[in-house]
Amino acid sequence: SSSGSKIMIQQAVGGEVAQESSLPLPVKEIPGSYGIPFLSSIRDRLDFYYFQGQDDFFKTRIEQYGSTVFRVNMSPGPFMARDPRVIAVLDAKSFDVLFDVSKVEKRDLLCGTYMPSTSLTGGYRVCAYLDPSEPTHAKIKQLLFTLLASRKSYVIPSFLSFYSSLFQTMESQLSASPGAKSDFNKLNDVTAFDFLGDAFFGVSPSSTNLGTNGPSKANKWLFFQLCPLMTLGLPKILEELFFHTFPLPPFLAKSDYNALYAYFNSTAAPVLDTAEKLGLSREEACHNLLFATVFNSYGGIKALFPGILKWLALAGPKLHSQLAKEIRSVVQAEGGKVTLAAIEKMELTKSVVYEALRMDPPVKFQYGMAKHDLVIESHDAAYKVSKGEMIFGYQPLATKDTRVFENGDEFIGDRFVGEQGKKLLKHVLWSNGHETESPTVENKQCAGKDFVVLVGRLLVVEFFLRYDTFTAEVGTLLLGAQVTVTSLTKAG
Ligand code: HEM
Repeated sequence: SSSGSKIMIQQAVGGEVAQESSLPLPVKEIPGSYGIPFLSSIRDRLDFYYFQGQDDFFKTRIEQYGSTVFRVNMSPGPFMARDPRVIAVLDAKSFDVLFDVSKVEKRDLLCGTYMPSTSLTGGYRVCAYLDPSEPTHAKIKQLLFTLLASRKSYVIPSFLSFYSSLFQTMESQLSASPGAKSDFNKLNDVTAFDFLGDAFFGVSPSSTNLGTNGPSKANKWLFFQLCPLMTLGLPKILEELFFHTFPLPPFLAKSDYNALYAYFNSTAAPVLDTAEKLGLSREEACHNLLFATVFNSYGGIKALFPGILKWLALAGPKLHSQLAKEIRSVVQAEGGKVTLAAIEKMELTKSVVYEALRMDPPVKFQYGMAKHDLVIESHDAAYKVSKGEMIFGYQPLATKDTRVFENGDEFIGDRFVGEQGKKLLKHVLWSNGHETESPTVENKQCAGKDFVVLVGRLLVVEFFLRYDTFTAEVGTLLLGAQVTVTSLTKAG
């Protein structure tokens, strides 16, 4: 309708979703159905993984129901999940309900409708599975805030040292033979793992008893928790049977976990002292440090960094030269040093990282259980939800909502530059909250939010201090992008 498109234009320009609520929204029944128990959820799962794929799974249903809020079964379903039924929220406005902890309970639903066995986390429900109403949540989150604050001055030097070494390796791989390529994801796994240990605890894992096996042990442990959400490209029947229907037996990852635990237990002793002062046992704190470092941080960077390079590779040489110019001139003006203050001045660099986080939020699924009867508002309608119903958000559709972001499906490097650009930041949601808000012990926003944005920017800074431009092949890998670099042009 014409009034609909008027609202749309207003919002695309102002970035204000809430304005619209001056008009009372029609209350509608939530469309969609769960179908036949068991059978329909398997059918939905096959559509989701194989026949339609994630994006189309949701987009076709938005079309079919004429609504960005609808009922559907979410993967993995039986027998992995007790109950696959969710209410999907797929626009920038309705998605917000998932951040309001007065409305939704965030207990045991980090992975969604299933929860990996606590034997994979030392028998504890770690922080990311705790609702803020549980007293331990605040203690652990506070411990992580304290840790991150205490390591602030180490992050930049540590990052530059580990990632300059990654790029040296990449250069030698590319010059080894004509047509040689370099797998960024592989190098990034090894580098990120060591960098995080060094940045958080002052000891790089590869220099301890763990040796160079840390990343492969971490990958295996992550796979045991996340395989219900992935496709590997194996024959469907094998994937369905082994990874999507029953949990992998946790004891098979036990020795890997124990080796990782030993690293944390020995290197994080001062942090464990702090934990005791906050009223946590050393053991519970140590399992949480492992989880925050290996699952949250390493798992997150595994998805984020290839995501950033992917969008840079696709954007091409014009954006590369603009970034190189900005980064080099700011660093030069700061006396040749990469500092927090310098990075803060790099408007385009900051925008590019936000835009990569908007296009490809590294964690795509968010869940919340209705704490009481409530109303969800999309741009067009209001929907009643009953207490106990599971609300699910597929974040890439919320952050590409064209009612908020003009040409929302396109990567636009300078989208967040300038006053108008800044207004859009609140619709960047990768951290499980608005980019304009901060994590607290009362909410469920990512404890590492500032750290993540910083290291994302540092990747771009280090890259364009070294190179004028590059080319890469871009594909998909498990839960993110695969980037294989084919050429690097050194800074002229
Ligand atoms: C929570 C993303 C790095 C610690 C979350 C959530 C997301 C997220 C989406 C909310 C999950 C949910 O409840 O639905 C990411 C990404 C990262 C990253 C994409 C890297 C690229 C880190 C780092 C830390 C961290 C470096 C370091 C401390 C946490 C913790 C929670 C969390 C403790 C749970 C918060 C709570 O229970 O209140 N993260 N994260 N994350 N993240 Fe991060």
